[in-house]
Amino acid sequence: MKQLENKRILLGVTGGIAAYKSADLTRRLRDAGAEVRVVMTRAATEFITPLTMQALSGNPVHLHLLDPQAEAAMGHIELARWADAVLVAPASANFMAKLAHGLADDLLSTLCLACDAPLALAPAMNRLMWSNPATQDNRRLLERRGVRLFGPAAGEQACGEVGEGRMVESQQLVEMTAGLFAAGSLNGLNVVVSAGPTREAIDPVRFISNRSSGKMGYAIAAAAAEAGANVTLVSGPVALPAPPRVVRIDVESAEQMYEAVLANMRDCDIFIGAAAVADYRPQQLAQHKIKKAQTEVSLALERTPDILASVAALPNAPFTVGFAAETENLEAHARAKLAAKTLDMVAANWVGQGMGFDSNENALTLFWPLPASQDSNVPVDRQGGSMELPYAAKDKLARDLISVISERYHAQDKT
Ligand code: PMT
Repeated sequence: MKQLENKRILLGVTGGIAAYKSADLTRRLRDAGAEVRVVMTRAATEFITPLTMQALSGNPVHLHLLDPQAEAAMGHIELARWADAVLVAPASANFMAKLAHGLADDLLSTLCLACDAPLALAPAMNRLMWSNPATQDNRRLLERRGVRLFGPAAGEQACGEVGEGRMVESQQLVEMTAGLFAAGSLNGLNVVVSAGPTREAIDPVRFISNRSSGKMGYAIAAAAAEAGANVTLVSGPVALPAPPRVVRIDVESAEQMYEAVLANMRDCDIFIGAAAVADYRPQQLAQHKIKKAQTEVSLALERTPDILASVAALPNAPFTVGFAAETENLEAHARAKLAAKTLDMVAANWVGQGMGFDSNENALTLFWPLPASQDSNVPVDRQGGSMELPYAAKDKLARDLISVISERYHAQDKT
């Protein structure tokens, strides 16, 4: 099952007789290529031992919210960040109620609150507990919030009754968990995103930079990871945390960003250059702080390497998306960049006076080339397609951008 290869599945086990089945589930998830870490509630340990789960998962089992040993190495936040998906199987009626009401009184409920990876529950309980209006209200509430419910199945129950409430069988749960990843439009692709400003040193304490906050690039990296990509984010100095499941490489100068991006191009499928890379840097780096002895100082500048153009010119270039930050003639300048750097797409935005840089919202106009044969009579700077992504919060805009990139990327695959 390809979708689960190298996926990090956090398996939560709550108290119920079906807990014994989570041992088989762990083995099958690993057989499908997933890495499994197990978190058990106290009640779960009454039904199956942590040692069994440890042996089958190949990892230490996490039991306590305030375990000093676990806290030092991988507390609930680290576990939440680690997971590509959380599957709670079996999920008891009590656990569903806790989750629905945001209670966080043990490790599993706390990390579910702290986790933004897809969350799925495999309910298992007596049929009357399942059909109880309280449980059904909780189910509806959880589903409305995007929690996926796998089952329950109907049939003979451990308590001797027959009805709905059995945990779905392990193999089916593995397939349903794989389905959590199948929907990603960039599933399994390697995406490199650049974000933030660069700093070009003048002397040991001064530099040339710009107003980029990194918000646009970080939102794009998060949206690509959400779409199933393996994302590497090459980031200039910003004050933002790395998005979940994104590998961040911190750099400072354009030269360092160039090195880091190029070093990650070997298996890269898509490169998105959202960074505001300095076009010029001081020709000379002063060894000591420049003194204010003279009334005027001139700074000789030289060009920095063009990262985007270098990526697009690689022999096996990835699908390359550039940005164009413009204060005038947006379309003409953006199309010129698309053609000059032989990009697959350019995302143009107006910048200055509170727009583009350091704002929480943005708007983009996308331009892309069509195969020359379809547009042979059109001047090179007028060829291709375009699309407006209207003014919206950068995280929403980033998702829309990723969806268009994914369409264009896959369309290109078919040509
Ligand atoms: O970070 P935020 O505060 O959220 O702001 C977002 C943003 C305005 C920075 C972003 O939306 C944006 O427009 N990024 C590109 C900024 C820019 O440098 O544009 P440009 O038109 O000067 O450069 C064109 C393209 O060439 C960009 O993809 C840039 O990354 C790339 N470039 C530029 C110079 C260089 N030496 N190497 C490059 O790769």
